[in-house]
Amino acid sequence: MNADIQQLHGSELREAIRYWLLQTDVRQLAALWATADQVRREHVGDAIYLRGIIEISNRCIRRCAYCGINASNHRISRYTMTMDEIVECACTIEKAGCGTVVLQSGEDWTLTPLWIADTIREIKKRTSLAVTLSLGERLPEELRQWRETGADRYLLKIETSDKVLYDRIHPPRGKEAPNRFEILNQLRRLGYETGSGIMIGIPGQTIDILTEDIITLAGLDVDMAGSGPFIAHRHTPLAGYDDAIKPDGQAGNDALTTYKVNALLRILCPQMNLPTTTALSTISARNGRALGLQRGANVIMPNFTPLPYRQCYEIYPRQTGGNNSKEDILHVIKKTVHSIGRYVASNRGDFVQYQLRRHNNPKRGEGVHDYAAV
Ligand code: 5AD
Repeated sequence: MNADIQQLHGSELREAIRYWLLQTDVRQLAALWATADQVRREHVGDAIYLRGIIEISNRCIRRCAYCGINASNHRISRYTMTMDEIVECACTIEKAGCGTVVLQSGEDWTLTPLWIADTIREIKKRTSLAVTLSLGERLPEELRQWRETGADRYLLKIETSDKVLYDRIHPPRGKEAPNRFEILNQLRRLGYETGSGIMIGIPGQTIDILTEDIITLAGLDVDMAGSGPFIAHRHTPLAGYDDAIKPDGQAGNDALTTYKVNALLRILCPQMNLPTTTALSTISARNGRALGLQRGANVIMPNFTPLPYRQCYEIYPRQTGGNNSKEDILHVIKKTVHSIGRYVASNRGDFVQYQLRRHNNPKRGEGVHDYAAV
């Protein structure tokens, strides 16, 4: 089968994706990597964008079955960074050469809308960084307020498009809670650049479900998609998954499956910003990041959370750079980027077609996206 799947639809597309997800032949796979790399070069070029992450709070009211900072984990100490610490950290991120700061937290309702707005305003006053928020499922009024204050982007992963699997790993927040597809639509309507993503190899995620996840994510019309492997965390209900016998058809939570998913996404969405995730570098520390960048990705998201806090933000075990200084992390990243003949971008790395897309389609975000039919 040809690695060119851009023209396919419906059952043909589904078949082609399944084919690649099941593929083990290295020569065949080399064709997939080459196509993804070529599409990446043609559509987004050789630049690599650095988005500096600050994990501003590890408090969380949710009990997601996979996540180490879920509310039921009483073994970690909880923190919220001060506004001064966050702003200072954002200045460090700008000095380090990143174009974007990502403010990430658990779903922490003690972070008030006003406080977040003040933090955004202060960062915008002190730096020229793009501000991305990754704060979970927040209310439409809050999302609007933050957008009006100057936030540029919002990340909310769908994790999977399969409603049954989604519900199994995400105990609900409340009856009236919106689903993530609705929130992504709201974000687009508010004019955010939107990011989403899936987890790869979630227990219960079959190859068929993963195929549907890729098709759904590619059809979401998002500007960025971050997809990394599921990593079992010992203080979660999914602890012990690594040693369990996997049922037939279960999608792997390994590096190869991760490369395949991201290569396919690059081919299906040529202009999308695609990060090589920290979760991938965690399971494949030696060359995961470089291979991710050579198989479709064009974004790296280095972690700038100050050390004592970073150790408490363990969504999964053994995050790369867990104990390294900012200087070490950046040095390693730049070395990797140069070793594969690419360069670190000096601009913010907005989605290439973002302005054009909004101009051509002012109703963007009003389309209906929802869970895949079951
Ligand atoms: N393994 C891999 N990824 C995880 N995430 C959370 N927990 C895990 C885990 N155990 C990812 C989810 C979430 C993001 C913040 O991190 O995709 O959206």
